Amino acid sequence: MQSRSLTLGIETSCDETSVAVVEDGRRILSNVIHSQVDLHKEFGGVVPELAARDHLERLPHLLEMAVKKAGIETDDVDLLAVTRGPGLVGCLLVGVGVGEGLAAAWSKPLTGVNHLWGHIYAAMLTRPDLEPPLLGLVVSGAHSDLVRMPGHGRFQVIGRTRDDAAGEAFDKAARMLGLGFPGGPALDRLARKGEPKRQPLPRPSLPGLEYSFSGLKTALLYRLRDLGDSVTDQDRADLAAAFEQSVVESLLEKLDRALEAEPVEDVVVAGGVAANSLLRRRAAEVVGKRARLTMPSLELCTDNAAMIAAAGYFTSPLAGEVGRRPGGEFRPAVVDPSLGWD
Ligand code: KG4
Ligand code: ZN
Repeated sequence: MQSRSLTLGIETSCDETSVAVVEDGRRILSNVIHSQVDLHKEFGGVVPELAARDHLERLPHLLEMAVKKAGIETDDVDLLAVTRGPGLVGCLLVGVGVGEGLAAAWSKPLTGVNHLWGHIYAAMLTRPDLEPPLLGLVVSGAHSDLVRMPGHGRFQVIGRTRDDAAGEAFDKAARMLGLGFPGGPALDRLARKGEPKRQPLPRPSLPGLEYSFSGLKTALLYRLRDLGDSVTDQDRADLAAAFEQSVVESLLEKLDRALEAEPVEDVVVAGGVAANSLLRRRAAEVVGKRARLTMPSLELCTDNAAMIAAAGYFTSPLAGEVGRRPGGEFRPAVVDPSLGWD
């Protein structure tokens, strides 16, 4: 019988501190997540210095909890995987520093993980038989990227946004509509009470596979300005619904186009915005029977360490050791706040 392989993941790229233990890159033994929402709420956005300090203060306890919940000894850990970018530099430095310290203290290999890859690998935790090749749409606070994944650790970007990311657009629209931080989930809830047809907004459409959300954002701003003080709660809900519909349909129009151009068996829609209820429903309808759609569970859409552990494992030599596939490497855990898909 093959022995199991355990990866301990650490995620600190933005405002979630998380530590997870994942078995063979697929089975979550623990995934402890601390959200800093309460810390940043009063500022209406993430304050990088506060975020970094909070990661540092909370990591030791979260680490202890993750190991305990997983029911393992630290000596059982085969690999440490830590997010190296993209993200906030101070926050990434905390995670990588702790990862390096643990790797030295426990004499274990450490691998640096691309956070964007992590979002795709969250889908592997959701569907245990999912393997590349696949077509992925990663929609988060900073990215709206369409990627092809021909194999483990290999990604080709085929579409991206020219300006705002979808999550950023949701957050800014939420602020205009007077909703609190974080904006995306609040806008999602408000939109459920609205009717897009009552306050129609333009659908952004660029040629090819590119996105743009800045025009839509301006349209919302002008509409709110025109309504002025007469704006009602129902208007706001209708505008939230119209804004959400425009973003979601624009995201899916390009996914549809990419799927038509080069059919694949598996499609993954992941990242924080993949928690959006309309996107979840419409993605299933748009992909239809053409491919199998995997969207990570809500907890695995937003930032978490289990996805980092999975990505670290599948791109390391350990994935070969358990007989799944050859290759992979331990990647240097060098912080790169502006890391792309490479
Ligand atoms: O992936 P993520 O947790 O962090 C980044 O890597 O950026 O994504 C965070 C983004 C935020 O912009 C947040 O507003 C958005 O995901 N988000 C949502 C929902 N839940 C989170 N946007 C729309 N609807 C949601 N339900
Ligand atoms: Zn993320």
